[in-house]
Amino acid sequence: MRKLTGFGIALIAIIVLVRILEAGSEPTRAKKGMVISSSGIGSEIGAQVLKDGGNAIDAAVATAFVLAVTHPGAGNIGGGGFLLYRLATGDAVAYDFREKAPAGSSPTMFLKNGQYDFDAHHNSYLSVGVPGTTAGLYLAWKDHGKLSWKRLVEPAVKLARDGFPVSIGLAGSLSGILDDMKPYPASMAQFSKNGIPYEPGDILRQRDLGRTLQRIADQGPAGFYDGETALLIEKEMKEHKGLITREDLKAYQPKKRTPLRGTYRGYEVIAMPPPSSGGVALLEMLNILEGYDLTGNGHASARSVHWIVEAMRRAFADRAQYLGDSDFNPQVPIERLISKPYAADLRRTINENRASKSGPTQFSWPVESNETTHISVVDGERNAVALTYTLEYLYGSRIVVPGAGFLLNNEMGDFNAGPGLTTSDGLIGTPPNLAQPGKRMLSSMTPTILEKNGSVFMVTGSPGGRTIINTVLLTILNVVDFGMNAQDAVDAGRFHHQWLPDRITHERFALSPDTLALLRTKGHELVQSGNQGAAEVIIRDPASGILEGGVDRRQPDAGAGVQ
Ligand code: DON
Repeated sequence: MRKLTGFGIALIAIIVLVRILEAGSEPTRAKKGMVISSSGIGSEIGAQVLKDGGNAIDAAVATAFVLAVTHPGAGNIGGGGFLLYRLATGDAVAYDFREKAPAGSSPTMFLKNGQYDFDAHHNSYLSVGVPGTTAGLYLAWKDHGKLSWKRLVEPAVKLARDGFPVSIGLAGSLSGILDDMKPYPASMAQFSKNGIPYEPGDILRQRDLGRTLQRIADQGPAGFYDGETALLIEKEMKEHKGLITREDLKAYQPKKRTPLRGTYRGYEVIAMPPPSSGGVALLEMLNILEGYDLTGNGHASARSVHWIVEAMRRAFADRAQYLGDSDFNPQVPIERLISKPYAADLRRTINENRASKSGPTQFSWPVESNETTHISVVDGERNAVALTYTLEYLYGSRIVVPGAGFLLNNEMGDFNAGPGLTTSDGLIGTPPNLAQPGKRMLSSMTPTILEKNGSVFMVTGSPGGRTIINTVLLTILNVVDFGMNAQDAVDAGRFHHQWLPDRITHERFALSPDTLALLRTKGHELVQSGNQGAAEVIIRDPASGILEGGVDRRQPDAGAGVQ
């Protein structure tokens, strides 16, 4: 054996020291490819696609269809979302398959006798937008996929038809939602045993869903937007005064959009444009925060949290004022909102020692719930996908289409309540995001990819309604400013400010008691929250090229698949 030189020993000592200094939770590691999602089964099936020669798009498509079966609270074919794709060449494209308002919609559709009707907005057949998932996944696959479409949908068909063992997490989630499903017999039939909750270990078979997925596997989008599936959707809508017609379904088109690009401390940030508010708000916050020494002031210190919160407050105020579907709001000043000079102007309004006051109070927030789901993929060639999609609420509208076996979204609730309907207790009536035929409702979903020196560096995204944007921000700060590995960046406690209500919500162990006290002396109100989001993160170590995954255990069934 060769003898170690003094230099060799010194080098090993330095590596060991760095490891000790950087110690944290061990992330999942992979040399070639990785898939992370809220469903371990989904991630493994995605990784198998990579092993079979598929690329990141193929794996994301297969995983997304599997989640429609194994993670029914948010995985879907009856909802919509965004897929951000960065090719190894450096090109990037955003696939927008957000739901659209049906032709029969109007800005006043959620008012009854001039009064706001919450249930119509969030819990009714009127709350269902025209689904986009199948069309969006197909378009991304058609542009970039390598394996056959059928090969990618087939694993989901099989899981729906033959069933899979219910996990402890899924059993708990299903038993919690059954009461809400009682008005919908097809939902009860699919997600309970004649009204009795599934137990862990029971096999959940979803045969109608299996047949619908088979039609999608065989016919592509026509298996959803035409023929039997479209007829079943229209029938259910007609019977319950819903708006969606077969014409709405036929007319649905996903859109390819140009991603937003910004920079943060030498990293290029690729982000989702409207109708997501996420990319604009994220870049605005990163630009503001670039002017502060977060690293030197430390993770979760009162000074760092103060700056981060003040950035959040300002980005969310702009979100309310300016953002909606850009196809309907061409005047939105996106370039200005994500520019460095604008951030510098905003930074000047931040007082080092005092919390700003959120005001005026004319903007507040529509109700959003806490369920959506995110998939991160990097393949052997270093193509990367960040895919976030949703039914809006957990299990969406809770309505399963009889005979078709899938849940419908309640995404129309993401439109503003009605013209001028802005109240201090949470409604917003500003024009950019009012319902109109064919319009997409504003979203907070923030699939994001960072690159460094021309190669992918980080893929991130999360569920969590408006908290999504801040969760994604924190994962980026945790890695770039605080030097965390992917797992630590995901595990670290989270906090959130959304301008109004004017308070910081924080996870239980996110901030120490003395940090909380210091923030209070600066004038911040603080409230403990439950879990914030579920970020699924992949980092490519620039030195070794190895992939590092952070699986968010806030979702009990989350997992990684590796190649
Ligand atoms: O698109 C949106 O912003 C919301 N419909 C997402 C809802 C959500 O994230 C709920 N939960 N995690």
